[in-house]
Amino acid sequence: MAVCVFSSLLTVLCVGLYGKYTYAEACTDPVVTPASLLVEYGDPAEVNCSIPSKPETDYTLGWESKTSQPATDTETSVMWKVDSLTNWEEADGLQCFFTVGSNQCESNVTVTIYKRPDRVTLSSVSDVWVEGDQTELWCEIENVGPGHKLSVRWSRADPKHNSSTFTQFSESGVPRLGK
Ligand SMILES: *[C@@H]1O[C@H](CO)[C@@H](O)[C@H](O)[C@H]1NC(C)=O
Ligand SMILES: *[C@@H]1O[C@H](CO)[C@@H](O)[C@H](O)[C@H]1NC(C)=O
Ligand SMILES: *[C@@H]1O[C@H](CO)[C@@H](O)[C@H](O)[C@H]1NC(C)=O
Repeated sequence: MAVCVFSSLLTVLCVGLYGKYTYAEACTDPVVTPASLLVEYGDPAEVNCSIPSKPETDYTLGWESKTSQPATDTETSVMWKVDSLTNWEEADGLQCFFTVGSNQCESNVTVTIYKRPDRVTLSSVSDVWVEGDQTELWCEIENVGPGHKLSVRWSRADPKHNSSTFTQFSESGVPRLGK
């Protein structure tokens, strides 16, 4: 009798393991809409992430983000949403993941955040300009981004005497130009 119980316990265990093995589903990459975002700094933004159908087994569909990490284990879509996008780092790794058992699939969203300058000021280093002498002008551009995509152009009001400079800045570069 004891052997019988022992053996039926083994059978149950085996069936349990077998069942788990056969139902471990592979994941597919979740669909993100839109796949890329161009957002002005401070504006709202949202991206929908979805899967075609619910897996048979436990799953998680969720977002990897610096500001908001919504997730679901009952729905087939989950929305990433911010009222005001003010984290520049969001552009480095917004990702939707879909985990089924030990399998994980991901889809990345390409995010570009930009900001128009608060102020552009032009000033002369000296108050007096002497004919034939060199002079220096400063152009200051405040709170603009992203810095690595920025270019600044100098041009004169008189189109016959253009003296334009295109300059690229690094993210940390303080835009100070003299010419
Ligand atoms: C997200 O996308 C899925 C699939 O296209 C759609 O069924 C769902 O309604 C969308 N969710 C929202 C909030 O738009
Ligand atoms: C998605 O982003 C992650 C982290 O930024 C990166 O490691 C991965 O290679 C990217 N995947 C694709 C398919 O671009
Ligand atoms: C100077 O720049 C202006 C504005 O971009 C342009 O219309 C003009 O053709 C340029 N003139 C010369 C001489 O390059």
